[in-house]
Amino acid sequence: LFFPVEMAPHDPILGLNETYNADLRAEKVNLGVGVYYDEAGKVPLLRAVQAAEEARVAEHAPRSYLPIEGLAPYDLAVQKLLFGTESSIVESGRLITAQSLGGTGALKLGADFLFRLTGKKLVAISDPSWENHRALFEAAGYEVVTYPYYDAATNGLNLNGMLEGIEALPEGSVVLLHACCHNPTGVDLGLADWARVIDVIQRKNHVPFLDIAYQGFGENLQDDALAVRLFAETGMPFLVASSFSKSFSLYGERVGALTLVTSTPDERDRVLSQLKRVIRTNYSNPPTHGAKVVAAVLNNPELYAMWEDELAEMRERIRGMRQALAEKLKEAGVTQDVDYIQRQRGMFSYSGLNKDQVKRLADEFAIYAVSSGRICVAALNSANIDHVAKAIAAVMKD
Ligand code: LMR
Repeated sequence: LFFPVEMAPHDPILGLNETYNADLRAEKVNLGVGVYYDEAGKVPLLRAVQAAEEARVAEHAPRSYLPIEGLAPYDLAVQKLLFGTESSIVESGRLITAQSLGGTGALKLGADFLFRLTGKKLVAISDPSWENHRALFEAAGYEVVTYPYYDAATNGLNLNGMLEGIEALPEGSVVLLHACCHNPTGVDLGLADWARVIDVIQRKNHVPFLDIAYQGFGENLQDDALAVRLFAETGMPFLVASSFSKSFSLYGERVGALTLVTSTPDERDRVLSQLKRVIRTNYSNPPTHGAKVVAAVLNNPELYAMWEDELAEMRERIRGMRQALAEKLKEAGVTQDVDYIQRQRGMFSYSGLNKDQVKRLADEFAIYAVSSGRICVAALNSANIDHVAKAIAAVMKD
């Protein structure tokens, strides 16, 4: 039976964890996966999360099944976080939010739903994009194409290329967009850029699918939801995949959500009924713990304020590391412009390192990065940054 099964390649991101764990060198640093580590090099347990968990344990609650679409107070809290507490769309009867297994689970639910129920077969992702976007949509049956995004000459956005690329797609294509903290480049759109992108998408009847895995890591929770809110103003249908892995430091709990903006309450009911079938035939219904914790924090003003502060601490620490890395690269003799590291937003820096340079970082310095050159700035700290800066400078100079 299994004889013909060939060895699959390592996952380009999570596979790095395996290689990193097997590396015995003391100076090793994992800049691969998008995980926030604190100054001590640990994945933090947020204070707000701990308080919510303690309250939950004290409840000694029974563990029944959740509804297929997840915990209702969680789903509603996700909508308020995306659209704003005052947003009329939350009360419109047009929204569906289903709890999902992380942001990846939300993307897969949305991909499966659009493919099976609306006959969508083509999706466009940014060039470059998160490695798993292509793999996930291909696994769901799609043809995956790209639209231009990153301009290597300026380390910034290729807005005209992006607009032309989206314009040239067949009418009604699914267009995957990073709402904030673009993964892997850290290059985001401003208000005026979004307005132009939305205009093309509307004219071409495309289906926007927004991936928002880093809300709160760019500017703040509100500003990072700008794209979601601008799309909501248009009245057009769209999808949003949320993740709380990073913002709540709850990676292993798989806490995410898929939100669908429909056109009428009647349409909403029909779409929800089908989405529930997609979920039921996949994993039946979602797990409880992570969603309970996130809902407890989002729905309690005191815990929410505590969480917002902790998120700001993480964001500020990453900013500090960006600045330190740029400075230390210059000190180590790098003459190329590295100021873009400070302009990029979110957890990542698209360092411009090529595959061979990334391989040298691992082989010679025990520093692991994604082969695209993406490094996770959120894994830097004052104990490892000198080693990292010197190593990057060494492979850049040779
Ligand atoms: C990443 O991009 O590193 C994260 O989103 C983790 C993952 O699942 O790839």
